[in-house]
Amino acid sequence: MPPKTPAKPLPHQTIAQGDCLKTMAAWPEDSADLIFADPPYNIGFKYDHYDDNREHDDYVNWTNNWIDACARLLKPSGSLYILIGDEYAAETRMHLRKLEKEKQLVFRNWIIWHYTFGQNCKLKFNRSHAHLFYCVGSATAKIKAHEKITKNPPFTFNREAIAVPSARQTTYNDARANPKGKLPDDTWYLRPQETDVNYLHPECDTWYQSRLAGTFKERQGWHPCQLPEALLERIIHVSSNPGDLVFDPFAGSGTTLAAAAKLKRDWLGCELSKDYAKRATQRIKHVAETGQTMKVDCADKGIQRGKPKKKAEPHRSKKDAEGKLLWSGKG
Ligand SMILES: C[S@@+](CC[C@H](N)C(=O)[O-])C[C@H]1O[C@@H](n2cnc3c(N)ncnc32)[C@H](O)[C@@H]1O
Repeated sequence: MPPKTPAKPLPHQTIAQGDCLKTMAAWPEDSADLIFADPPYNIGFKYDHYDDNREHDDYVNWTNNWIDACARLLKPSGSLYILIGDEYAAETRMHLRKLEKEKQLVFRNWIIWHYTFGQNCKLKFNRSHAHLFYCVGSATAKIKAHEKITKNPPFTFNREAIAVPSARQTTYNDARANPKGKLPDDTWYLRPQETDVNYLHPECDTWYQSRLAGTFKERQGWHPCQLPEALLERIIHVSSNPGDLVFDPFAGSGTTLAAAAKLKRDWLGCELSKDYAKRATQRIKHVAETGQTMKVDCADKGIQRGKPKKKAEPHRSKKDAEGKLLWSGKG
């Protein structure tokens, strides 16, 4: 376990440039309300500084170390989300089990984010998912009776901020339906580019959000694996409140922190690359000042783009759904 004694006070609204392990060790324990980690997956991605080709055991040990450091930094009432690829999902889950046995965390969900625009493979099926592990802090680990957790959870879970219409509401017109909708399933399917509705809008009972392809305006174009803000918005909505501290140990292009700034949370990140840290900070400041996602045109990214020939996949129009829904929750 990393040392328990802090050396430095925790900064806010900044990205600490450098190795997250060293940086986190210097910060006080029990500090972050929400931690989202999207580490390099050890699959040979091209980052500007980090070499994404470690030996297997080295990568697993490193992963265990930064997860321990996150568990230490997390408030007992906090939430931790880890996004990871197939290659190391099993090892990562095993380490979370160990921390659960030690009553440092409680594992809540193994979520699958199913995306489009994954990498095309030649002799196997194209990858279209990542694993998202959702855990909560040690306060939950100390509670023995399950019903106590359900009635009075010792962590933030803003159900209504992310509820979606249930099939009872949208399809069956069932009087027993909860008018506030239902919680999303643990497979997240997000694709806004094929619809004009936001993922929290009543029309969808699934999330529509693909990975960010190079031509998408949200894609900044200078980081190899920028996540969509919508993915982070759901996590931040459900597991934190305005003013809470959201921390990302692998800030990258700054997606987590941009979404946190947009939703009026405090934000803090670490990033090894000086260049990424600088550009991510510009992106987050733009969001904080304007309330808008920073958009970049294809031409500015050096991409030439023709007009799409036809709509790629079926489209749910707003009009159709508006006519049918019985939604009365947050929208
Ligand atoms: C998968 S990317 C994160 C992408 C981010 N979620 C986004 O949406 O842009 C992982 C990032 O971790 C950074 N990184 C690698 N090792 C690190 C370390 N020891 N400490 C801090 N950052 C590190 C890499 O430079 C890279 O930008």
